[in-house]
Amino acid sequence: MASEQDVRARLQRAGQEHLLRFCAELAPGPRAALLAQLESLEPEALREHCQRAAAACAQPPGPPPDLAARLRPLPPERVGSVSRSDAERRRLWEEEGFRQIALNKVAVLLLAGGQGTRLGVTYPKGMYRVGLPSQKTLYQLQAERIRRVEQLAGERHGIRCTVPWYIMTSEFTLGPTAEFFKEHGFFHLDPDNVVLFEQRMLPAVTFDGKAILERKDKVAMAPDGNGGLYCALADHQILEDMERRGVEFVHVYCVDNILVRLADPVFIGFCVLQGADCGAKVVEKAYPEEPVGVVCQVDGVPQVVEYSEISPEIASLRAPDGGLLYGAGNICNHFFTWSFLRAVTREFEPLLKPHVAVKKVPYVDEEGNLVKPLTPNGIKMEKFVFDVFQFAENFVAFQVLREEEFSPLKNADPAGRDSPTTARHALLAQHLRWALKAGARFVGAHGTRPPELPSGEPPVVCEISPLVSCFGEGLEEYLRGREFQSPIILDKNGVRALDP
Ligand code: UTP
Repeated sequence: MASEQDVRARLQRAGQEHLLRFCAELAPGPRAALLAQLESLEPEALREHCQRAAAACAQPPGPPPDLAARLRPLPPERVGSVSRSDAERRRLWEEEGFRQIALNKVAVLLLAGGQGTRLGVTYPKGMYRVGLPSQKTLYQLQAERIRRVEQLAGERHGIRCTVPWYIMTSEFTLGPTAEFFKEHGFFHLDPDNVVLFEQRMLPAVTFDGKAILERKDKVAMAPDGNGGLYCALADHQILEDMERRGVEFVHVYCVDNILVRLADPVFIGFCVLQGADCGAKVVEKAYPEEPVGVVCQVDGVPQVVEYSEISPEIASLRAPDGGLLYGAGNICNHFFTWSFLRAVTREFEPLLKPHVAVKKVPYVDEEGNLVKPLTPNGIKMEKFVFDVFQFAENFVAFQVLREEEFSPLKNADPAGRDSPTTARHALLAQHLRWALKAGARFVGAHGTRPPELPSGEPPVVCEISPLVSCFGEGLEEYLRGREFQSPIILDKNGVRALDP
């Protein structure tokens, strides 16, 4: 291990010597930990990172100049749509997707390195329960959807197949996530097919370019954004692992969308048949000012433009069909070919520009007191996973129905938006739609029709295990022509009535 003197010399080169200001008073253990952490920070990179963060924060880039004149929607031939295509076309996409899955060419990749600060729990978001009758966590729902899609593809093609699950974690989420999967027997997935890897961390920085001490013996670090994926893939030889398994197509998604369709065969099939190297699922923006990024083109190059960069006039423009011209809302649900990911990791990653996030970062003050700031005091630099769209040779977007595919968990209750309650309602409402479509009927306590409930909350509770159905398929055999009293769960053992 490096001596304090060595570390001090390195920090001087980086202009960050203040990080040692409590070193002399630390006990041997914490002191060694601090020196080890500081030794891992490469001086030139640290200097550049801190300077860059302060400069970017002092002068936020703002919208690209002349954006209005340079902005275009994606050309129609690059956009597929679930709702605007006929059943035969959807069937062809799905068939192709299942074929690729059956050939073991499809993997899913979960971005699970975030800190989930808005939700405010101390453990990884994937371990969160939104209050479903089954008490399943987000991780369990996802694991079961993988098992089901493997089963469906396998049955169609008369073979056993695997959809490997790559999970990007961070210093915050790796340990608890690994532990959680072990505790739950990997939810009956083969542990060899669940690959956890860790993204890098970057120091949080003050507005004047000083790395922050969160304790006397620890520098405040934050994950480098979900676009840290590309460095992490290279750091941990994940593409080599994919290559060994023969993976050619990767479905990348966020941990917090409770409706996510893992390895969605329709999306995969669409992208493969279009010859795409990179694709994004989108939902129609609900209203012009909705705060979601828009998938579009700037100077003919595909990218996600932040809602804050688009003026209200442009955001309200309508297409000839009446929909919003810039209505393709990004839902962090992406398709990448293995070759595209390799090109990004080898060639393009250094060109990605980090974004500035201004946050409240707990710190120790000059006297060594721990301070929890009430206003933002620090800068975290993050790369975004979608910033690689610009490098695609054949980029496509695929529009899906929000109520079927997108309900993110971002905030704690009672936020009213993107919360545990809205996520739970979205999933249960979907399951109820599927059940009714499959021919189920529901009655209230005295055999009456259940009343309509206030917005969002489904009138009856019918939770369907992803092991039985993950796209609404195959429910007739359990439900057609039968009458149930809410609440019920449908799982592999059939329908189970629950205590109201
Ligand atoms: P968000 O931007 O919503 O961040 O992440 P978050 O960490 O979940 O929540 P807040 O902002 O702290 O409240 C979108 C997705 O990107 C992942 C998250 O885990 C989530 O799936 N992510 C985010 C990473 O994998 N790494 C990161 O560094 C940041």
